[in-house]
Amino acid sequence: MAAGDRGGTVLALATEPRFAQRLRRYLEEEQILDVRYRLQKVPGGSVALPVLEGKLVEQRLQELQESGPRELPCRLLRIQSPIPSKAASVRTPAQKLCSELQRMVLGLGESWSEELERDVPHSWQRHGDLVLLSEDSFSAALWTKLGSALWETVASALGAQRLARRGRVLPGGMRFPSVTLLLGQDGWVEHVDNGIRYTFDVTKCMFSPGNITEKLRVASLPCAGEVLVDLYAGIGYFTLPYLVHAAAAFAHACEWNHHAVEALRRNLALNGVQDRCHIHHGDNRQLQLQDVADRVNLGLIPSSEEGWPVACRVLKKGTGGVLHIHHNVEALPAPSCLQPAVPMNEQRPPEDSSSGEQEDGQRELQSPEEMEGGGKEMLAARVRPVWQRWAEATAARIRGLLEELHGQPWQTSILHIEAVKSYAPHVHHIVLDLECRPTLPA
Ligand SMILES: C[S@@+](CC[C@H](N)C(=O)[O-])C[C@H]1O[C@@H](n2cnc3c(N)ncnc32)[C@H](O)[C@@H]1O
Repeated sequence: MAAGDRGGTVLALATEPRFAQRLRRYLEEEQILDVRYRLQKVPGGSVALPVLEGKLVEQRLQELQESGPRELPCRLLRIQSPIPSKAASVRTPAQKLCSELQRMVLGLGESWSEELERDVPHSWQRHGDLVLLSEDSFSAALWTKLGSALWETVASALGAQRLARRGRVLPGGMRFPSVTLLLGQDGWVEHVDNGIRYTFDVTKCMFSPGNITEKLRVASLPCAGEVLVDLYAGIGYFTLPYLVHAAAAFAHACEWNHHAVEALRRNLALNGVQDRCHIHHGDNRQLQLQDVADRVNLGLIPSSEEGWPVACRVLKKGTGGVLHIHHNVEALPAPSCLQPAVPMNEQRPPEDSSSGEQEDGQRELQSPEEMEGGGKEMLAARVRPVWQRWAEATAARIRGLLEELHGQPWQTSILHIEAVKSYAPHVHHIVLDLECRPTLPA
């Protein structure tokens, strides 16, 4: 039963069949026709038109009876077991939500406005039974008058048990999502991604679905027997694919945010790899670890530069290894005669502000293929020289750091440059796979 209906009945205006369409138009204009239900015949041959309930509606109906068109004779009654309209059954969740809220507002004796309509969320993210609303929803003062019934109605319209709303992402290294729980006991959710289970508290940690291509790539790397150091482990987005799919023998996961550490701990256990990972809780720049790693993951954007000296220290001194260096590289467009125009879908805000499964609005762009429409190769071909220059400069810097650290010559070679996603207009999140080896004495 929809909220506000009494005992499965709805209020309706009954009129003779020949007046039904005129009355329908009148009720539509007055915005009091309840479009969730069909017009239906009632005993006596009249047609009943479902109407919304609430003080404002009662007032309108009274006006209709007192001063409405004389030639529209009608009477109020209740329809038992009303039949849902076709429109109601094909409405999107956003439309359903909007009409439920409209009914609540009218029921309070308030009027529905364009401002309220704009304030109703049109997209959200679903994390199992928890729906995460965007920060720009429900900002009008009026909503507070609806009390907790508001969140119960929103959750039920969206088929959720728990509700949360996103706030601002705080600047700085610590990435608190500032999400507020509106309905429910806690914000812990679970995702399955490429066969790996991840749990985290949406009110405390971020989830980055935009990194899916990189997580898949990492999962397919041949790492059997290797020791990995993940300098920016978060909840384990990369640590877990390395351990579960890429068969890394052991991982050292560094993370300074205790909420992420808690989620990482749970995720290692959920996937049965807790015995192959040591969590280093704290600032990785203070890491007391050296000469252990075959591979180092530096998954921090816009830049992981502060972690480069640490990465060099943890790499195995005798054999070296591979660094996966994430970075945002800006490629300003060349004059239009030399370069194709930047496609519209590159013009999007940073992916960091979103997480989870996007619904009902524009879907989150998840891979370079999706971003570009023309495919990853096109994207790569277009901006590769800038990436290449950045990669070469980085390779030289890392070689310098390694030589300074060990007092002997090292070689660094660019194995691969991966485009992860478009981060902002003309800015791409890329990953450089850099092989670093000590040069053997001749
Ligand atoms: C972008 S998230 C990385 C998560 C994962 N690699 C990804 O791309 O989805 C960066 C993580 O690094 C952590 N972090 C940033 N600077 C750090 C530092 N100096 N020491 C330890 N952890 C750090 C943050 O708390 C955050 O959880």
